[in-house]
Amino acid sequence: MSQPIYRAEPWAVTERSYQPELNEFHETIFHLANGYMGVRATPEEGFSGQGTQPGTYVASIYDLVPSYGPHNIVRVSDRMSVMVNAPDWFGVEFWLGGERFDPRQGKVSGYCRRLDMRRGVLTRELVWQDRRGRRTELRFTRFVSHDNMHVGGIRSSVRPLNWSGPVRCRASLTAARADAQDPFCNAALGTDGMILGVRTRETKFETVLAAQVEVGAEAGAPAARARSRLVRSDRAVERELTWRAAEGRTVSVTKLVAVCTSREPERGSARVRAARIVAAARRRGFDALLADHEAAWRRIWDDSDIRIDGHRPAQQGIRYCVFSLHQTYVGHDPRVNIPAKGLSGPGYGGLYWWDTEAYMMPFFLYTEPAKARALLEYRHRTLDGARHKARAYGFDGALFPWVTIWGEECSGDWEYGMIEHHVAAAVAHGVDHYVQATGDEAFLWERGAEILVETSRFWASRVTWSPARRRYVINFVTGPDEYAVGVNNNCYTNWMARFNLEKGIEAVRRMRRRAPALWARLARKLKFREDELRLWRRVAGRMHIPYDPKSGLWLQDDTFAERDPFDRRRWPAGDRPTGRWNWYRRIRSQVMKQADILMLMHMQNESFTRRDKRINYRYYEPKCVHESSLSPAIHSILASEAGLADDAFRYYLMSARLDLDDVNGNTGAGQHTASLAGSWRCVVTGFGGMRVKGGGLCFEPRLPAPWKRLSFRMTFRGRRQRSRQFCH
Ligand code: BGC
Repeated sequence: MSQPIYRAEPWAVTERSYQPELNEFHETIFHLANGYMGVRATPEEGFSGQGTQPGTYVASIYDLVPSYGPHNIVRVSDRMSVMVNAPDWFGVEFWLGGERFDPRQGKVSGYCRRLDMRRGVLTRELVWQDRRGRRTELRFTRFVSHDNMHVGGIRSSVRPLNWSGPVRCRASLTAARADAQDPFCNAALGTDGMILGVRTRETKFETVLAAQVEVGAEAGAPAARARSRLVRSDRAVERELTWRAAEGRTVSVTKLVAVCTSREPERGSARVRAARIVAAARRRGFDALLADHEAAWRRIWDDSDIRIDGHRPAQQGIRYCVFSLHQTYVGHDPRVNIPAKGLSGPGYGGLYWWDTEAYMMPFFLYTEPAKARALLEYRHRTLDGARHKARAYGFDGALFPWVTIWGEECSGDWEYGMIEHHVAAAVAHGVDHYVQATGDEAFLWERGAEILVETSRFWASRVTWSPARRRYVINFVTGPDEYAVGVNNNCYTNWMARFNLEKGIEAVRRMRRRAPALWARLARKLKFREDELRLWRRVAGRMHIPYDPKSGLWLQDDTFAERDPFDRRRWPAGDRPTGRWNWYRRIRSQVMKQADILMLMHMQNESFTRRDKRINYRYYEPKCVHESSLSPAIHSILASEAGLADDAFRYYLMSARLDLDDVNGNTGAGQHTASLAGSWRCVVTGFGGMRVKGGGLCFEPRLPAPWKRLSFRMTFRGRRQRSRQFCH
């Protein structure tokens, strides 16, 4: 989109006039989440017509469905996990003087929907005029608590401006979209409450929602007398409230909700816990719950705000990124990881990718390291799935799934799940990065070493010895650039495999020296043989790394230089490969979907000089169309490091505002979490020039010209650092 959709405000995102044509997009942008659950911003009254995808998700509640894929050559598993829709709790519908409130009928004025990022609160206000000219002011306030992850609330206020008469309100819990789950409870809860539970079919996870709905008048006004009754249907339960509205008087309906699942470690059924939590929430009251939630956000911002003075779009962009990352993951359960679209939408089926270690983990590592640890713990817990995948393809050790929730491979597509193997090295990189930044050796002994050994084993069995090159090669892979399918010696993959092996060797050595008893136990468990170490050394020492010393270019793969040249700058804007080029034309061309060699230079930063970065950036950047949202952030960071300030800033804005500006045109299906996290790195690593050196953090700032000041705060080696400030 050419025009920015939202005005650049430092702490808010505001829809200033009613834009039903952007409804699905706004549902993502204004979604609220707390790492445990996410609720898309479908309006409380629902959305009539096309262009809506309501969704409520609970982290890691999934079901298993038959795996698909016409190219499912090696069927690692015949089932795959998909995130399911939980029942929705956002519904609050009104009939005002007999007319159903629907802003798409009648007239809307004074409209304003605002996400207040500082407080984590979504409000919407408008005046609605029905077809008979009756005007009503409505206001909605919604939050998903960061103080108690099971709790959410909505307050809806109605004030007739030029009429008096009957009002009917229906506040619902509905499993209408809780795809393929079976309702198992659907009942009243006391006089004002209700409860609804659904169960997934294969995994048998129960999700239970309990709600309390109350009607109240404005302070000082006589109490609103409303009748409340329960309405039940097959897959829903509703509280219907009716009262007589008086012109000029505000009446509010407060809906408090508790969500629990049978997956939580807490004792007691989800049903009992949800009922208990909602009763406690009701005692505390909406205002106090909201205040607790806002206090939690204050603490979050104290630790992780990034302040940019001098450029509002840049400021709003990064705050939205940081806000969204905290909404997406809270590290409460090591069985939970981060979906590519967070808890903001159905895109990519809620699956977890290499995005986690390569993009999201560093944000948590330098802000709240316990969360980074929880992410790696998830990988440790799912090692069996990774072992299973390696075995299915005839390799040793562990090859993490390209996509998964439950730990087994969920991609049946041959060019991704089958050959995009670099995910194994991303996890190993995550382990190494975590240990370096925290000094948490216990994690290495207890979990990390096992990951490093098993992934090293995988690579040692994955390589082939090339007698002609007298080097180990890795044939038939897809690297980060997914347009280049089934190539030989993708430089990124080979280098990262070598890195993985080196870290495997280092971990074994270190553990032997510093935790010999634990090593002996691990070695027994893994049936570790001494000659494995020798093999890893040999492979790492003789890995083929495609490089042309004359040009100073690392070559993306063996045949990249011979493919059809492509230069984005000379290409007609509309003629982009996705959806337009046939597959054959794409793999014959140098066109790139996303950063590949530049991704390598980012991951292995210290191995490349500024000159290397500049040469390679200049060569690869014009070939990339950034069809993957993972790409702009890496381009920004590399451009910063190569001293190309304009590009660095341009790509930063593209990345940090990717969702706000709907750069890729698909934000409606959910946010791009990797891009949100990559933008944080653009600021901290790119513009702040942060490096870990000699066991400490150092900075080499290079601020974009319009920025007057940049400040942020990090945690390193168990310590919250003082806030860093950089000026020109
Ligand atoms: C990218 C992958 C990424 C995935 C999920 C794809 O379009 O090419 O690198 O892991 O999206 O974000």
